[in-house]
Amino acid sequence: MPSLISSSHAALTGTARVPGDKSISHRAIMLSALAVGKSEVTGLLEGEDVLATAAAMRAMGARVERLGEGHWVVEGVGVGGLMTPDDIIDMGNSGTSTRLIMGLIASHGITVTMTGDASLRGRPMGRVMVPLMSVGAEFKARDDKYLPLTMTGTMDAMPTDYTTPMASAQVKSAVLLAGLNAPGITTVRERVATRDHTERMLKAMGAEVHTTEENGHFVVRLKGQPELTPVNFEVPGDISSSAFLLVAASIIPGSDITVENVGMNPLRTGIFYALQAMGADITIMHERTLGGEPVADLRVRAAKLKGVTSLPVDPSTMIDEFPVLFCAAAVAEGTSRFEGLEELRVKESDRLAVMASGLKACGVELSEFEDGIEIKGRGGRVPGGAKVATHLDHRIAMSFSVLGQMAESGITIDDAAPIQTSFPVFVDLLKGLGAGLELEG
Ligand code: S3P
Repeated sequence: MPSLISSSHAALTGTARVPGDKSISHRAIMLSALAVGKSEVTGLLEGEDVLATAAAMRAMGARVERLGEGHWVVEGVGVGGLMTPDDIIDMGNSGTSTRLIMGLIASHGITVTMTGDASLRGRPMGRVMVPLMSVGAEFKARDDKYLPLTMTGTMDAMPTDYTTPMASAQVKSAVLLAGLNAPGITTVRERVATRDHTERMLKAMGAEVHTTEENGHFVVRLKGQPELTPVNFEVPGDISSSAFLLVAASIIPGSDITVENVGMNPLRTGIFYALQAMGADITIMHERTLGGEPVADLRVRAAKLKGVTSLPVDPSTMIDEFPVLFCAAAVAEGTSRFEGLEELRVKESDRLAVMASGLKACGVELSEFEDGIEIKGRGGRVPGGAKVATHLDHRIAMSFSVLGQMAESGITIDDAAPIQTSFPVFVDLLKGLGAGLELEG
């Protein structure tokens, strides 16, 4: 496995575009595969996770083909038209592919066996199995909740009314996708509104989807069995990928970069407000709409960051950005405290534990607790000199690549391969802006 050495204190300068949004790319392939007719997708993220979704939808009968860089064509089978694959489907590292596709299978009368890599096989699937069983799907899973699992969906799906027990767009989306081939209204209730790409995209394809606020819950209702019209999706840049650039340029003195075409869905922009609360200098420019999503260019100039003890946003609006925010906190002046982050323990790795041990190895003082972490900022560079373990987690690898730029003795990331799941051009893109990164092995 290739390791990655991150060291240098050179300022980052220039203009960059990050690859397409991962959440939207998955959904563009899945939903187009259920439309009647041909859809085109541009700006698709060609990371391993999305390729796993493409392969799975192909295995279930859709035509999914690459025409050129980020440009794909999908010929759908129509809602109700998915077929049993003739082999096990391997979802690699991708929780989003797995959980959303489980939703699709639940209301199709097909049987599918799924597996994934060691990280994905350790992630809980009970959170989607429970509501999908109420739709009528049946499961046989390892230890009742892990991959590999075999599920059989039903052609007589029941529309469900489900309140999610945790803030999870994957769970919400899985239930809504199951509702696509159930007669009547499927309802999902959330205490905290999570990313709404599924709802926006289904609406654009002609489905009836309504979102309201009722008794302190955000409620989504979907009318089942729509005929989905093919649309041409333009995928904006991934704000979660851009977060690595925003933090890097904020913490490396003298930096001044512009990240173009970043998706600014209001349920995804928490990182922007969190960094601003720490004193970051980020200007939003050229706000516009692309493919039904708000988009902007972001200019980031280095700033002296200070610690933060209460975030101005709900954690769900930046759930994937905490690892790199912890790196910002490590170089900030003063102590930062982050709470309410129990969901980080069930991501590609236990991100609280893995970040805590990596940061400690780099000489950062901190305390980890059940649902969060307190980090004593160094007010500048961290000692570094450590080799950190990524545990098959792309965001851990990229976070320490950013921190290495502000480490006295650099940081070695044990395995750079997971970066391919979401941001295949990460190393070259950062080097192009002036970062010191070298792959080894
Ligand atoms: C995603 C939802 C989030 C996020 C993941 C992508 C999605 O997961 O962490 O990377 O595309 O719906 P949860 O739903 O588990 O919070």
